[in-house]
Order: sequence, then structure tokens, then C-alpha cells
Amino acid sequence: MVLAAWTRVADWGRGASPVLVLLLLLVSSGSSEDYVLDSRGGLGREFDGIGGLSGGGATSRLLVNYPEPYRTQILDYLFKPNFGASLHILKVEIGGDAQTTDGTEPSHMHYEDDENFFRGYEWWLMKEAKKRNPNITLIGLPWAFPGWIGRGENWPYDFPDITAYYVVSWIIGAKQYHDLDIDYVGIWNERPFNSKYIKLLRYTLDKAGLRRVKIVASDNLWQPVSFYMLRDSELHRVIDVIGAHYPGTHTVVDALKTGKKLWSSEDYSTFNDEVGGGCWARILNQNYVNGNMTSTISWNLVASYYEELPFGRDGLMTAKEPWSGHYVVESPIWITAHTTQFTQPGWHYLQTVGHLEKGGSYVALTDGQGNLTIIIETMSHNHSICIRPPLPGFTVSPQNATFYVKGSFSELSSLQVWYSKLDFERSNLTLFRQRAPLKLSKGAFSLELDVDEVYTVTTITTGQKGFYPEPPKSQPFPSHYQDDFDVRNPPFSEAPNFADQAGVYEYFTNSSDPGEHVFTLRQVLTQRPITWVIDAGQTISVIGNYSWTDMTVKCDVYIETPENGGVFVAGRVDRGGSPTPSAKGLFFWVFADGSYSVTADLERHIVLKKGLSGVRAREWHTLTLHIHGLVASGMLNGYPLWKDVFTFGSHNGWAAIGTRSFEPAQFDNFSVDAS
Ligand SMILES: *[C@@H]1O[C@H](CO)[C@@H](O)[C@H](O)[C@H]1NC(C)=O
Ligand SMILES: *[C@@H]1O[C@H](CO)[C@@H](O)[C@H](O)[C@H]1NC(C)=O
Ligand SMILES: *[C@@H]1O[C@H](CO)[C@@H](O)[C@H](O)[C@H]1NC(C)=O
Ligand SMILES: *[C@@H]1O[C@H](CO)[C@@H](O)[C@H](O)[C@H]1NC(C)=O
Ligand SMILES: *[C@@H]1O[C@H](CO)[C@@H](O)[C@H](O)[C@H]1NC(C)=O
Ligand SMILES: *[C@@H]1O[C@H](CO)[C@@H](O)[C@H](O)[C@H]1NC(C)=O
Ligand SMILES: *[C@@H]1O[C@H](CO)[C@@H](O)[C@H](O)[C@H]1NC(C)=O
Ligand SMILES: *[C@@H]1O[C@H](CO)[C@@H](O)[C@H](O)[C@H]1NC(C)=O
Ligand SMILES: *[C@@H]1O[C@H](CO)[C@@H](O)[C@H](O)[C@H]1NC(C)=O
Repeated sequence: MVLAAWTRVADWGRGASPVLVLLLLLVSSGSSEDYVLDSRGGLGREFDGIGGLSGGGATSRLLVNYPEPYRTQILDYLFKPNFGASLHILKVEIGGDAQTTDGTEPSHMHYEDDENFFRGYEWWLMKEAKKRNPNITLIGLPWAFPGWIGRGENWPYDFPDITAYYVVSWIIGAKQYHDLDIDYVGIWNERPFNSKYIKLLRYTLDKAGLRRVKIVASDNLWQPVSFYMLRDSELHRVIDVIGAHYPGTHTVVDALKTGKKLWSSEDYSTFNDEVGGGCWARILNQNYVNGNMTSTISWNLVASYYEELPFGRDGLMTAKEPWSGHYVVESPIWITAHTTQFTQPGWHYLQTVGHLEKGGSYVALTDGQGNLTIIIETMSHNHSICIRPPLPGFTVSPQNATFYVKGSFSELSSLQVWYSKLDFERSNLTLFRQRAPLKLSKGAFSLELDVDEVYTVTTITTGQKGFYPEPPKSQPFPSHYQDDFDVRNPPFSEAPNFADQAGVYEYFTNSSDPGEHVFTLRQVLTQRPITWVIDAGQTISVIGNYSWTDMTVKCDVYIETPENGGVFVAGRVDRGGSPTPSAKGLFFWVFADGSYSVTADLERHIVLKKGLSGVRAREWHTLTLHIHGLVASGMLNGYPLWKDVFTFGSHNGWAAIGTRSFEPAQFDNFSVDAS
């Protein structure tokens, strides 16, 4: 034990004299391990902040429709300095019209001649974040691209100049329309990169006067990007940050050799219970300790999507009930606060960071002006497993630790303490509680560390556990729901609660319509996007409660494509996200050729009934789908069209609207009755 301590102190003893080291060993008792925090040998890497990722995809979909004051409260828990997660970084998806995990996000250029910087909710979110923290770092990254970028190919690099122009136009629009300065831009999320494209992106940014915008690459693995950077000096020059995903707290030699900043540019993605909190606590420290990473970004920022979509509740907090206002500030919010409230991007890690003798880790950061923040975590293996990668075994046991602060910190006499414990055995959760300040004696303080704890020990006095009264109770999605889309100045381009899983549905105004359908909801994509996963060939937007079994879905529909257009209403739709193409349910279709069909799946392989309907394009029709127990029936314009179809394949699911292909079509007077 003493020998181990001697070795460790000697390792770090660069600045400490042998006499001093010996003294430390005498002071320490046998039941405590010693750790020295010293800045005299020089500092470690610059810290770039902790962040959350909105998008990739549609993960903030339900947040925007929260009623006040709850929406403001949620945003405060995420972004407000010295309140909750107090995030340093907001990373957003540059919407690309395609399915990117939990839905699609609209592009600012659906078509080549189109530019609109008011679609979706990422602009709004970035502004809300900036409002609370003007220093917040903004990052944009595409997952997918609108179809025209590929000129017929499902690939964004055949015409790299077009892709670069498209991405840079998003950054220019952010400034021009929202006064948002984007700080970093990425390449293509978790997909191949192309060196020529990255260089062209740099060139295009520079030409647009955006030298300050830095490039993160490649938002995938450490390799092969690091390998190529070491062999291509221009590529090395244009990439500012190597961003890797789910690195399991480790990096690779080539990445270190580049000398670039290393980030875990997407991480976490774990169900936000206490194990999720434990995962987050462990990686926030150990991504630096083991892997020299100076930023960690959580996918996702806030779980604001239907929970039955893929990766339900994998956000720092949960806000998926705009209809009730209910939200939950989950443990990862307070774990985040342990770092974010007591550090800022631009601070530096000390070189003296590492593992604790009996498991866990500690990091220390300084602003270079005398402030010191130490974060200690003792997460046990089973209570800190992240969704990926697999976590090799290790043990953590209770231990006493004595920290010696040296060099410029040796004069400190007391430090603030913030404490959390994820107490699985006694279900006694303590999250981000302030404790009495620690008195230092001769630059030393001791902690009795138990397992699954987080301590922040700091000179910073501004920490605060933000608080709002309990939000309203959780409520199921209303069983009677309707929307006529008659919104004159919609704050967002999409209708509340609809979650597009293929295609993009937007409010539409046809001012030359003489009748009832001036304000509608319109599917606006006219071609398949450059996809991130394999999007369905049909478009679909889901809504409601996944538990619904019996329901009546009614909607006015307007096919715009005379040749082969078609639309549907559906119930019991059993999946979204990347599995959307294999969605089952009950789908009632009408087509421009005057036919109808009833299918048990979105791809129309399982046809339960078909016939003639007399429906035509460019006329409004009303579809009613009634599903009750084992049978379903359909009405057209209020008259029965088909009945006694046995339901098949899916027992429960959402209601939905959709189109036969990537074709414009409109919907109005939607209602669902699931009583
Ligand atoms: C923003 O950064 C500046 C300069 O680092 C600092 O003085 C200021 O306090 C920061 N503001 C907030 C809200 O953190
Ligand atoms: C990476 O981190 C390790 C452990 O903290 C440290 O020894 C090493 O010097 C760092 N390497 C680089 C290149 O920063
Ligand atoms: C620490 O930071 C605060 C601002 O949070 C600043 O006022 C103070 O001068 C810094 N230095 C020390 C030694 O506390
Ligand atoms: C961790 O989980 C594994 C698998 O569930 C279990 O076998 C093991 O006993 C657990 N370890 C501890 C320390 O609880
Ligand atoms: C930590 O120190 C306290 C007080 O000296 C002692 O009672 C306890 O047994 C120690 N714990 C461990 C794990 O050594
Ligand atoms: C629960 O935690 C609190 C705060 O740390 C502590 O005071 C209390 O004794 C704990 N209760 C149990 C049953 O462990
Ligand atoms: C769906 O309904 C069930 C049963 O009423 C309820 O427990 C659940 O919370 C609801 N989910 C949503 C998303 O409304
Ligand atoms: C708008 O309404 C007019 C008049 O009913 C109609 O002719 C036209 O097709 C509509 N346009 C769209 C895009 O729906
Ligand atoms: C359809 O909605 C329009 C407004 O968009 C409304 O005027 C009309 O009454 C509704 N029709 C039905 C049948 O509900």
C-alpha cells in the first residue's frame, strides 16, 4: 500500500521535492490513498465542454409543443447556467428530410431552388439555449441530405461542391435569419467521409467568410480518419477536432498522434434511469482520464419523442407529454451539473488526473486564474453500463482518499462540495446536494468514498440546484383528438404531436382555395432523400398512444399527383424509426386511379381488401377508418366503402397518415377517437 502510494506520488512528483513526498506519506494513514493535484508541471488539455444533441433524429419533436410555463422550465433545466445541466454545448442535426432514428427533420432546402430557415425546431432550440447561455457552443451535423444533392444517387460526395454549398448555406442562414453563430460543423454522421469533401467544405466556409467555423470529423470511429490525417497534411490542417462516437472512454494511438482535439462527439444513448446516470458520470470523467477526450456530447439532449420509438428515454431528461405538461428531471441532469456548473470551456485539465486505487476516477480542472474544480466518481460496473460498447469488468469498493492540492492551489483553505449518490441498495438517491465546505489543512483534504458516488470539490461558489414546483401529473395522450391545422402564423412548421417517420409534413396555406381547405397539413417531399437508414418508400407520420387498440381515424385527404398518387389513414401502426419500412397496422389507402385498398403493412405486401372508390386526384375526400377488436371498416365521404375486414398483424399502435410515395399530398380535419 505504502509502496503503491510512493510509486504514484513519485510518478506525479515532478514538481514536488522528495522531502515533500516523504512528508505526504507520513501524513497519510494506512487506510487512505493519496492523490496529488498539481499544476506546476504544466497543464493537461483544454476542456471544451459537455453537451447535448438534439436531433439524429427528431428527438426534440414533442418538446416544442409543451405549454408554458413547463417548456421554459425544461429549457432552464437544460441550459440555464447555475441551475441544472447548464450545458456548455448544443449540437443539432442539420435536417436532411430523412429518417434519422426517431423521425425525420426537415431540410432548409427540400428542393434545389428552395431555401427556408424557419422549418423544424432546431433554430428555435438554439435560440432558447443562447438566450440562457450566450456562450453556449453550437454545432451542426448532417445525418441525411435532401434527394437533389445526390443527383439520383443515394450518396452526398459525387458532387462535393453541391454538398458543401448546401451545408454552408445552413450556417449562413443561421446567422442571417436567427443571428446564430455556428461554431463547429461536422461531415456525415456515422457514415463514410471523403477527404476531398472535407477540404472543399473548409474552402467553402473560408470563401463565405466563415473562418471561425471549425470542422469536426468524422463523427464515426477514430479510424480511418486519424490514419488519413497522419498521411495527408492538408486533411490534417482542415480538421480541427476528431469526433468519435461511443468510444468506450478510449482512443487510439493514431488519434493521439494527430495532436488534435479529441471529442466523444456522441455518447451516452442510455435509458435515463440511475444506471444511465451512472454511465454518464463514469464517461464524463473517464473519457478524459482514459481517452484524452475534452468534450462529451449526449445523444440525446432531451427524450422528447414517443417512448416506443427506438431508444426511448435515452436523453438527459424526459419530456414526452406536451398534452399534459408532465416532464421528469432525470439523474443525468444532475450528474451533468457536477461538471458543467463548476467548469467552462477554455479551462484546462490538470495533468494529475487518474483512477482511484479502489475503483473510480478523478479529474481536476482549472481556469488558470486560481479556480480549481475536482470531480470524483466511484461508479460500480453494474450501475454504470452504457448502451454501448460492452463494459469490461472492474470492481469498485469503499475507500478513503486524501487529495493534496499543490502549486498555485496550495493556499486554498476551503472548498465547496457537491455530492450525489446513486444508491441502488437502499433506493436512497441523493442528487447534486450541497454539503458543508471542506476545510483544507496544509493543502490536503480527505473523503470517505462509497461506491456509486459523485463529488465535486471546487473553489466555485455559484453552484445551484435549480428547482421548479412539480410539473403536472403524467396523462395518457387524449383519447379524443382532432386538429384542423387552421393555424395562421404557426410558430413551427409541423403540427403538434405528429411524428414524421418518412417524408416531411408541414403546415400549408392555399390562399386560392375557395373552400374549407385553405389551411392544411402537406407532405412536401417530392423525391427520396439521401438516407441515413433505409427510409420507407412511403411517407408516414404517426400520432397518439402506442397502446391504442380500438380507434376511429378520420381525415380529409387530397391527392395531388394524378398519375399514380395515393394516400392513407392508419391505426395500430406498430413501429417507427429505422424499422418504419416494416411497420404493420391497418392501412386504408385511396389512389388517384380510383381504387382503394386495405393493407396490414405500410409496404402494401399484405392486402386485406381492395376495390374501386371513385377517388380522384385534386379533389378532397374524407376517409374514416374504424378498428374495433378483430374487425375493421372504412368509409369514404361518410358512406361505407368496405367492412368486415379481419385485422391482422398488429394488435396495437399509433394512428397515422401517409402517402404512397414521395409525393405532395394534403390532409385536413384529422381526428382520432380511441375510446
Ligand atoms: C461568457 O463568457 C465570458 C467570457 O469568458 C464570461 O465573462 C461570461 O461570464 C460568460 N457568460 C455566461 C453567462 O456564462
Ligand atoms: C493522454 O492521456 C494519458 C493519460 O492521462 C497521458 O499520459 C498522455 O500523455 C496523454 N496523451 C496525449 C497525447 O495527450
Ligand atoms: C474563480 O472564479 C470566479 C468567478 O467564478 C472569480 O471571480 C475568481 O476570481 C476566480 N478565482 C478564484 C481564486 O476564486
Ligand atoms: C452484476 O451483474 C451481473 C449480471 O446481472 C451479476 O451476475 C453480478 O452478480 C452483478 N455484480 C454485482 C457486484 O452486483
Ligand atoms: C476510512 O476512514 C475512516 C475514518 O478513519 C475509517 O473508519 C474507515 O474504516 C476507512 N474506510 C476504509 C475503506 O478504509
Ligand atoms: C439517505 O440519504 C441521506 C442523504 O445522504 C442520508 O442522510 C440518509 O441517512 C440516507 N438514508 C438511508 C436509509 O440510507
Ligand atoms: C397510453 O395509454 C396507456 C394506458 O392508458 C398509458 O399508461 C400510457 O401512459 C399512454 N401513453 C401515452 C404516450 O400517452
Ligand atoms: C389550391 O387551391 C386551388 C383552388 O381550389 C386548386 O386549384 C389548387 O390545386 C390548390 N393547390 C394546391 C397545391 O393544393
Ligand atoms: C374542416 O376544417 C375546416 C377548416 O379547415 C372547417 O371549416 C370545416 O368545418 C371542417 N369540416 C369538417 C367536416 O369538419
